[in-house]
Amino acid sequence: IPVDPFDLVVFGGTGDLARRKILPALFRRFCAGQMGANARVIGAARADMDDAGYRSFVSDAIAEFDPDAARHKDHLDSFLANVSYVVLDAKGDAGWDKLAATVQKGRVHAYYFSVGPGLFGDLAQRLHTYGMADANSRIVVEKPFGHDLASARDLNRVLAQHFDEHQVYRIDHYLGKETVQNLMAVRFGNMLFEPLWNSQYVDHIQITVAESVGVGGRGDYYDRAGAMRDMMQNHLMQLLCLIAMEPPAKFDPDAVRDEKLKVIRALDPVAPDNVVRGQYEADGDAPDYRTQVETPDSRTESFVALKAHISNWRWAGTPFYLRTGKRLKDRASEIAVVFKEAPHSIFGAEAGRHRNILTIKLQPNEGIELGVTIKEPGPGGMRLLDVPLDMTFAEALGEDGPDFPDAYERLIMDVIRGNQTLFMRGDEVEAAWQWADPVIQVWEEGGETPIPYASGSAGPDDALMLMHRDGRRWREIKA
Ligand code: BG6
Repeated sequence: IPVDPFDLVVFGGTGDLARRKILPALFRRFCAGQMGANARVIGAARADMDDAGYRSFVSDAIAEFDPDAARHKDHLDSFLANVSYVVLDAKGDAGWDKLAATVQKGRVHAYYFSVGPGLFGDLAQRLHTYGMADANSRIVVEKPFGHDLASARDLNRVLAQHFDEHQVYRIDHYLGKETVQNLMAVRFGNMLFEPLWNSQYVDHIQITVAESVGVGGRGDYYDRAGAMRDMMQNHLMQLLCLIAMEPPAKFDPDAVRDEKLKVIRALDPVAPDNVVRGQYEADGDAPDYRTQVETPDSRTESFVALKAHISNWRWAGTPFYLRTGKRLKDRASEIAVVFKEAPHSIFGAEAGRHRNILTIKLQPNEGIELGVTIKEPGPGGMRLLDVPLDMTFAEALGEDGPDFPDAYERLIMDVIRGNQTLFMRGDEVEAAWQWADPVIQVWEEGGETPIPYASGSAGPDDALMLMHRDGRRWREIKA
């Protein structure tokens, strides 16, 4: 369904996120016919460039980052016809009159703050001063949303001076991933799982977001953040919320976000011996973490694993094990709901121990797998075997597989539609920092050094111990 006509201003329009994600996502939606022919994209940044220069920047970005660029090439000129550029100083007045004259009245205005959080206040205030903050405007902000609770509160306060909460779209791109949304469909669209979705039947839940890449060219940012701030406080926390929350009464933004917030608020503080942090070592020609971030004595973690508890009726007694890291064995992310063993085995000890595991695979191949215990075929008596009921979406849904839109395509269109369901509310972000801050504080105050781990491994051995000591084991990290 096409969205209403809009003007989208991308502050930081010549930056990396714009190039890799925002501009290609807009182009793909344009090709899909969702963005009407009169929707306009206005890049705004400090770089001295005219419209023609920006159009060629956008066209290069599309060629590099839209995997279907060649198939879409006939659409390129009509898309670029509605792209323009304003040279602008976020901290001064240069360019703002021109921007105000460019933005058309009477349509949806989305202002994408694709800049560091240090500029959020300046942008919000100038949008207001130059008459561009009205009831039709929305602002989109990216992570990192703050560095800790205090800074997140400051950012919320700064934005609230000029915009209402319903106008603020805080992106966590994990919420735009198709399978993450599917989590809600699986839980609340089926009768099968929900009756078992509690500590009476679920032994534990594992959430793994493993990356095989290192910190690449982002060392400067990453070394100030680390895995806890970069991934755990936001992406893994969001996954945890969706897997653990109560059914919202309806699929509407505040109903969903209220339930997520309750999960975060029910989290116990994490005891220091329930957290393991690591830092990757060199691997052949690939440098170690410290060399890559150019900080020889860096104490920042590139891996973190922890055990969390949600103190409420549904989950008391069911631990949640979460881990994420860079330079691990594979790029593989999944959530595994591990059910308890049957209370009594009628087949005797030799039949072994069996458990149903529901695995929701986020990437690289999206799908859901349910491990079911069956009889091993053959005349050899009652031997049991675990087999997967596999629903890899690409195989289950159509010959060529479904067309999975990139998270940004979905999220940007939701901004235009005015649907905040897949965006974080201010109180949610603050609650997540409130949970993460004490963990980070212990490391910082104690001067603790992360444990080195081999690149291409599953992280430090201590992370394995986190589960072994509970008589459990992590699932293999495998694409
Ligand atoms: C980003 C983090 O938010 O998510 C990166 O800053 C990380 O460090 C990335 O690599 C992972 O996203 P995805 O979609 O590739 O899993």
